[in-house]
Order: sequence, then structure tokens, then C-alpha cells
Amino acid sequence: MANDSTALPSSQEIIAEFERYVVPNYRRYPVALVRGENSWIWDAEGHRYLDFFPGWGCNLLGHCPPRVVEAVRDQVGRLIHVPNTWYMEAQGRFAAALSERSFGGQAFFCNSGAEANEAAIKLARAWGHARGKYKIVTMEGGFHGRTFASLTATAQPKYHEGFEPMVPGFVYTKYDDLAAVADAIDAQTAAVMLEPIQGEGGVKIPSPEFLPALRKLCDDRGVLLILDEVQTGMGRTGTWFAYQHFGITPDVLTCAKALASGIAAGVMMARTEVAAALKPGMHASTFGGNPIACRAGLATVETIEDEGLLERGAEIGERFRKHFEAFRREMPEMIGDIRIQGVMIGLDLTFDAAKIVSECLSRRLLINATHGHVVRLLPALTISDEQIDQGCAILGDVLREAQP
Ligand SMILES: Cc1ncc(COP(=O)(O)O)c(C=O)c1O
Repeated sequence: MANDSTALPSSQEIIAEFERYVVPNYRRYPVALVRGENSWIWDAEGHRYLDFFPGWGCNLLGHCPPRVVEAVRDQVGRLIHVPNTWYMEAQGRFAAALSERSFGGQAFFCNSGAEANEAAIKLARAWGHARGKYKIVTMEGGFHGRTFASLTATAQPKYHEGFEPMVPGFVYTKYDDLAAVADAIDAQTAAVMLEPIQGEGGVKIPSPEFLPALRKLCDDRGVLLILDEVQTGMGRTGTWFAYQHFGITPDVLTCAKALASGIAAGVMMARTEVAAALKPGMHASTFGGNPIACRAGLATVETIEDEGLLERGAEIGERFRKHFEAFRREMPEMIGDIRIQGVMIGLDLTFDAAKIVSECLSRRLLINATHGHVVRLLPALTISDEQIDQGCAILGDVLREAQP
């Protein structure tokens, strides 16, 4: 790369450095991004893209939301890091903010979704230890992360291949199938763990009865209910947490992605009586709950509330639904299910969606495909109606041109 610090490197130069020095464990698009504002993002050559998938769901308030930027700037000038051997105001306030908006429990902070799930799994093991319970039941098609226990919890063989043997004590069953879950639970089961809406699995929304019935089943069998809200949490679905659509509360909940608007942060929330199973020294995270992440998280909560963004999330979802229903009327042979809850959006195609993603990229619209044939959008709560219409017009053209 050019050594002149005033010259901005091109995408090609940035990519060349990656090829030499960065482990090639990701499939990346050949674009280097340099700046963002709300639902717009720019590459190193100055091209502007409309982002329907900002930060893989982390940038729920869009790129560089002003209050979050301000809170982070202020905090880095005061204290960058405070270890968890000390108290700090921001962590306590953020824990209170999350507790008040969920089920009144306590928070353990970490830095990612997988770490939050590791904490939940360890808590379930610690809680189950005295009760002779250690097994965790998880759902096929679910996704919980890439560290070893969260990877084992991810009941998708393609992610396990090459890493076996996996962690013992996990049992897999069918999502949205109460009888199958009931069969999978035995006297040694400590917890049932699942995403209330499967994200990576294709934006799968369960039938309305499933979660309430699962809550009752867990209570009847003396088993913890752990909800992985890494992707659905923090307002993504139009409520603070997705479980709030279903009239239940979990015993343990995990959240990351949007938690601090894109600053690395994860949290495990647990009912206070359950959280008591983790005693001092049993679990820890050096960076977890650091003041920068907690200030960013608090600014996220304030922005969502002051700007009425939970309500806006539902409106955005409905606007996408109208566009997608029009696509389906026009191209019924190409479009299956439309699955939308707030700004968690899935459009099931009858063919592989990868080509649609690359065609949209060439027209400067950023989207995602998951589970092979599902177009997944996780737009920002701050996206405008005009941006939605503009992006959907591009997506519509791309689908039309892909028609056999
Ligand atoms: C539901 C769910 N759980 C866990 C994870 C893992 O999160 P992270 O990549 O922050 O470890 C993800 C990531 O996509 C996710 O969608």
C-alpha cells in the first residue's frame, strides 16, 4: 500500500493487503467501505450504496447515529476501559435500562453473541449442577455462534464439519414442534435454548402458540428457557425483545448485534434467582460491560425511545410487505413466503438467492441471502420511506431480470 499517509488507499490496495495478511476465513465482496451515514454507505472510490443490511444487523440505528457517536466520543475522553474489579456508572445504568425493558433480571456483559450464549450455557450448567441436570436442547436450523459450545448448540451439521468432536450434552430437536421438544427433554435436561425467530435459518417465525406452550412445558418439566435474541433483540422486531410478541418471559436471554449500535457488545440477562448460580470467579470477560459499549448502549435505548422507533419498526416492516406482495402478484413462480416482523425481513425465493445479492450489489443496493434461497433484510429503524421505495424498485428490477 502507498506509504503516503495523505493518499487514501483504493479498494484494490486494501484488498491486496488483506490477501497477504488476513486469515481467509470470510467470503468478502470486493469492495472496501470507508464511511456511512444512516442507510447510506460509501466505498473507497466514493460510490454510494443504499444499505438494507447495515452491519449484519448491528447498525439498527443506521450508520453513525449522532447520539451514539457523541456518547462514545465523550467516553473515550474520560476513561476507555474499566476492569470488572471496579464499579462504573455506565454498566449499572445500562443493566438497569435492559432489565426494565425486559423481565426485571440481572445482566452479565460480554462482547459478542457467541460469548453471550456461552455465558447462558455455562449458567444453565451451573444452575443444573445441584439438580443433576446438564443437557441443553436446541432447535434444528438454529444459529448460536462459532465458539465451541455455541457452535455445538447450533444444530446445523454443515457448521460442525471438520471441528468434531463437539461439546457433549446437547440434544437437537425440531423448531416450532412442541411434541418434538417434549420428547427431547429428559430428567437430565437443564435448559431449552432457541431463537424466538430464527434469523440465519431463514427468518422463520414460529406459530403463535409455540412459545407460550414451550414456556409451560419448561415450567412443568423444571427446565430453563433460554432465548437467543442476539439478532431479534433491542427493538429489531418492533418490541424491545421478540419474546414480547408472544406474551411469555424467558429465564435467560442473550442479545448482541444491535445492543450498542455496532460497538462490540453482548449481554446475557437472567432471572435474579437463576443468575445467583454464577458465583464470583465462575465466569468473566475482560472487556465485557466496558464503559464505551455501555454508553453506546444507553444512547441506543434513548434514541429508540425519544424517536418512537419501535413503532416506526412496525411501519417499515409493513411498507416492505406491500412491495413484496406486489412482487409476488407479478412473479408468483419466483416468490414464496414473505416473513416480516418489524425490521427483520425474509423473502423466500423459489431459487438460489446468491445471484440476486450480487446483482443488487452491482446496482449499489446491499442485501443478504441466507439459507440458500431467502433474501434477508435487516434495515435500520431510521430508514426513510423514500429509501425503502428506492431499494425495493432496484430489488424488483433485479428479480424481474432473473425470471427464467
Ligand atoms: C441468533 C444468533 N445468535 C448468535 C450469533 C453469534 O453472534 P456473534 O457473531 O456476535 O458471535 C448470531 C450471529 O449471527 C445470531 O444471529
